[in-house]
Amino acid sequence: MLGALSTSTASLLAPMAARANTRGKGPIPYGAAVRTDPLYDDPAYQKAILDYCQVIVGEGGLKWIDLRPDRHIFDFTQPDRQLAFAEAHGLEMRGHTLAWHGAMPDWTETIASAEEARNELVSHIHTVVGRYKGRIPSWDVCNEPIAERPTRNAPIRDSIWQRHLGRDYIELALRTTAAADPAARLVINDYNFEQPTDEGRARRKFFLDLIRDLKARGAPLHAVGIQGHIQSDTAIDRSGLTAFVAEIDAMGLGVLVTELDVIDKPLPGPEPERDAAVANIAKQFLSAIGAACRPEAVLTWGISDRFTWVPIWFTRDDGLPNRPLPLDADYQPKPMMQVIQDFTHSFG
Ligand code: XIL
Repeated sequence: MLGALSTSTASLLAPMAARANTRGKGPIPYGAAVRTDPLYDDPAYQKAILDYCQVIVGEGGLKWIDLRPDRHIFDFTQPDRQLAFAEAHGLEMRGHTLAWHGAMPDWTETIASAEEARNELVSHIHTVVGRYKGRIPSWDVCNEPIAERPTRNAPIRDSIWQRHLGRDYIELALRTTAAADPAARLVINDYNFEQPTDEGRARRKFFLDLIRDLKARGAPLHAVGIQGHIQSDTAIDRSGLTAFVAEIDAMGLGVLVTELDVIDKPLPGPEPERDAAVANIAKQFLSAIGAACRPEAVLTWGISDRFTWVPIWFTRDDGLPNRPLPLDADYQPKPMMQVIQDFTHSFG
């Protein structure tokens, strides 16, 4: 699928060859968040996934709101279909996500005690991870644990789990997932680590504090997921992001890019200009990470502008459709896809 590296990109990437740790060899797996129905009903979508991806993750399906319509029900329809597709085509599937503040069904608001919260979280993880043991090799165990604007007194984001169990819910979720599938790679996933702002710096600091503490407790944490929903109205803090990733790497943890897309709301309207800007922002982000380590995988949150969550929160003022992803709405590659392919193939 790959065109030969363009000379300009090749010369641009050369410096990367000399970076610190390149654990693992060969191309970095690329993947995308998928939607279940088009995976089966839309041949062009299917072809795009199969042409470009080695990994998929459900945009939905394994979230509590999808899996647990009721306290006594587990609905595995979507993840079973996603995994069947992946296995039928030799793709890996990541699990997203076991403990999150978002996409929680209303009934969980009735959880009234620490004991009840513990039992619900533990039984949920055992049931879900147990079902896919040995078939889903990598899990976002905790998603977005850091508060939006973390402070020393409140570094952890409010959630049902935090409210009833404190920050210990994170270690509990990790240990429970490791017990359910000892071979699975366990990830903590979060966002806004690339921003050159006080908030960006605070998020990087408190996230590092959290994982350092988990490591010190011997919690089974293997890697960090950097979501990468990049706000294009601020520059990428390259040195801040590189230093952040270097610290994670120095702890012996892996790094994944898990949900890359570029929020193009503030970018100029004309598509060629906007697509070039989106590609350049993705390049700045990936190269800042690549300067510190070889990520284990790079996933975008969707593959085509036809299916993206971005308009939910970041509709453009000019009414033009958002273009945050590597393929346009007709599944044609944009400069962003070349940037991703060049990056994933830049580690020898
Ligand atoms: C988003 C989905 O893309 C939307 O379809 C859904 O309505 C809300 O959640 N961070 C995450 C993802 O970890 O799970 C979120 O996905 C986007 C932000």
